[in-house]
Amino acid sequence: MTETSLTIRRPDDWHVHLRDGDRLAMVLGETARVFGRAIVMPNLSPPVTTVKDAAAYRNRIRQSGKGARFVPLMTLYLTDATDPDEVEKGFRGGVIVACKLYPAHATTNSEHGVTDVARIRPVLARMEKVGLPLLVHGEVTDTDVDVFDREAVFIERILAPLVRDFPALRIVFEHVTTKDAVDFVAAQAKTVAATITPHHLMINRNAMFRGGFRPHAYCLPVAKREVHRLALRKAAVSGNPKFFLGTDSAPHAVATKESACGCAGIYNAPVAMSAYATVFEEEGALDRLENFASHFGAEFYGMPVNEDSLMLERAPFTVPERIGDMVPFLAGETLNWRVAGLASPTKGPVL
Ligand code: NCD
Ligand code: ZN
Repeated sequence: MTETSLTIRRPDDWHVHLRDGDRLAMVLGETARVFGRAIVMPNLSPPVTTVKDAAAYRNRIRQSGKGARFVPLMTLYLTDATDPDEVEKGFRGGVIVACKLYPAHATTNSEHGVTDVARIRPVLARMEKVGLPLLVHGEVTDTDVDVFDREAVFIERILAPLVRDFPALRIVFEHVTTKDAVDFVAAQAKTVAATITPHHLMINRNAMFRGGFRPHAYCLPVAKREVHRLALRKAAVSGNPKFFLGTDSAPHAVATKESACGCAGIYNAPVAMSAYATVFEEEGALDRLENFASHFGAEFYGMPVNEDSLMLERAPFTVPERIGDMVPFLAGETLNWRVAGLASPTKGPVL
C-alpha cells in the first residue's frame, strides 16, 4: 500500500551549520521549523573555542529564533591549545554537549583546528572520563593523499588508534561518505556512531561534473563513487542504531560557491526531511525513517526523544532555485514528500 502521509516523532539534526549574523537569521528557520534540536557546529570565524563563546553563540541563536520550538545544542571547536578544564566546565555547566575535532585545514574555517591528535590527548582523556562525546571530521589533510581517499586513510591513521586508546570515549564519525567508514563504525562497540547526510545518500561524485562543473554539489567530505553511496543507503535504512541523521547543512552565498575557489558545503536544510523520506521510500524502508531521524541520535546522546511529532505528506515539492543568495540542495527538482508541519505543536520547549 502506498502511504499518503507519515507522522513521526519530531526529528533532530545531529550536525548542522547555522552560521552567524545575517546568515543565521536567513537559515535558522528552515532547521527550527522541522527539527526539535540540532547540534550546532562551532566553525564560525573566529571559531567557538571557549565556553563563553558557546554561551554567547547560543544566545544569538535563541535571539534570532525567538518563538521557535527549537533547542540549539552547542559544541566546542578543539584546537591544539584547548584546556581540558574548559571542556569539563562547558559540559558540567550545561553549555556544550560535545566537542568537535577538525583536523587543521580539512574544511571550511578549520585553520585553527588540531594539527596533531597527540596534542589533544589530555582533552580526549577528560572527555572520556566525564562522558562528553567527540565529533570528528574524518579526513586526513595530507596533500599527498588523494582527496577521494582522505576519509579511508583517516580511519586507518587516526580514528582506529583513537578508538583503541580511548575505549570509553563516545565518538561520532560525522557525515560518513564511504563504505570503509560504514564498515568501520558497524564493527566497533556501541561508543562509536556515525551521521549520514541527505546529499551523500542521493548523489555520487559524478554530480559535480554533470555537463560541466557543478559547485553546488561540492562539499567536504566530497561525495564518492556509487559503491559508497549504496553502502551509505544500506547503513541508513539498516535499523542499526549507530547510524543516524545529521544533515551537515552548510549554507554559503552563491558568489562564494560559484568562484575560482568555491567554498565546500551544501545547503540542504530546506529539503532535508523530504530528501531523507524520498531515500527511505526508494529503499522500501519508510517504516525505519523514524528511528533514523528521531530515535537513534537521541539514544546515542542520552537524551529523551522529542515529545512532539512531524507530519510529512506525499505531495510534489519543487525545491526553489534560490533562497535569498543561496542555492539549496536539489534546486529546481521535485521530490515526492513535503513537510506538512508539526502534529502536536503545543508540546516541547519554546525559544
Ligand atoms: C562545512 C561548512 O561549510 O562549514 N562544509 C562542508 O562542505 N560540509 C564544513 C564541514 O562540515 O566540513
Ligand atoms: Zn559540517
